[in-house]
Amino acid sequence: MTELKNDRYLRALYKQPVDCTPVWMMRQAGRYLPEYRELRAQAGDFLSLCKNAELACEVTMQPLRRFDLDAAILFSDILTIPDAMGLGLYFETGEGPKFSRPITCKADVDKIGIPDPEGELQYVMNAVRTIRRELNGDVPLIGFSGSPWTLATYMVEGGTSKAFTKIKKMMYAEPQTLHALLDKLADSVISYLNAQIKAGAQSVMVFDTWGGVLTPRDYNDFSLQYMQKIVDGLIRENDGRRVPVTLFTKNAGMWLERIAATGCDGVGLDWTINIADAKARIGDKVALQGNMDPSMLYASPERIRQEVATILEGFGESTGHVFNLGHGIHLDVPPENAGAFIDAVHELSRPYHD
Ligand code: CP3
Repeated sequence: MTELKNDRYLRALYKQPVDCTPVWMMRQAGRYLPEYRELRAQAGDFLSLCKNAELACEVTMQPLRRFDLDAAILFSDILTIPDAMGLGLYFETGEGPKFSRPITCKADVDKIGIPDPEGELQYVMNAVRTIRRELNGDVPLIGFSGSPWTLATYMVEGGTSKAFTKIKKMMYAEPQTLHALLDKLADSVISYLNAQIKAGAQSVMVFDTWGGVLTPRDYNDFSLQYMQKIVDGLIRENDGRRVPVTLFTKNAGMWLERIAATGCDGVGLDWTINIADAKARIGDKVALQGNMDPSMLYASPERIRQEVATILEGFGESTGHVFNLGHGIHLDVPPENAGAFIDAVHELSRPYHD
């Protein structure tokens, strides 16, 4: 078993005692950091950063040099899988991700295969291996993937969407086509995350950014069912340690019991639910990750500390909490405010762990 100098993040997910509450930030590497913007300008674009293991490693390390973070997260993107399936991922400035060959029908679904993680996606595994070497046991490394439903929204819509009309049309008019796509995606995610674990990821997270746009029944059938398949298919122990899996569906406060029942280790919360309520509902089964509104990082350091104190008080005296933002950090947040947030979590949480 590789020694870890700081294993608070893993201990909180195992619900073992910690000295203070661990914290990391969704999208902690990225454009709010001037050193990231500089490196991206040199590399040319975002995908070139992802596809170069040395640069992806450097970007992963940037926030850890600035802040006292308890985990590193692989610098990559959820859309690497559809890109490897041949959909042609590109980024249009200001418009987010796009695909030049989106999925429109059953024939398109039949054409795509399960990407080989040590083939088309080997650049991701190389980044994981490089980051683990560079981290040298300082903090654990989180690997990640998108959920099948969230990946399918980008693949069918051809990019970011507001109303999800194309994928919902497929869901209601041609459900078998969508199920065939989701099933291939679930198998791809299992093989991709297991390869990240073998390459050195010590925990994995599944981002279901768009599960919350579904009806309660469709959430079960088109999103959660496939995340369940992933949880069941993952390597849960590696290098003598449990590899915790965290599921995060944004806007899913009403479905927490069902998410916790998948057998995952951690459930990610956005900011639309009180953490005390979430703990009362599922805190006996899983650890919780969250749940400060990322926009709070625009406030003064005093206001940020106050919010951190409120969330810590809501969770109360026990382990099983990984502090985080309820979604990704905004790109125009002052880095000092992120630092004030992280320090506040460590400092103000100590009395809860005496
Ligand atoms: O957290 C981290 O530091 C790790 C890196 C990470 C990125 N994307 C880097 C990135 C992670 C975990 C993701 C996940 C991701 N990607 C999700 C799920 C989480 C969420 O935010 O809901 C989604 C939906 C995507 C798809 C995606 N990739 C979008 C919508 C965008 C554009 C968003 C934007 O802010 O422009 C990306 C691009 C992207 N992924 C960037 C980064 C740092 C910005 C690229 C750049 O312009 O430099």
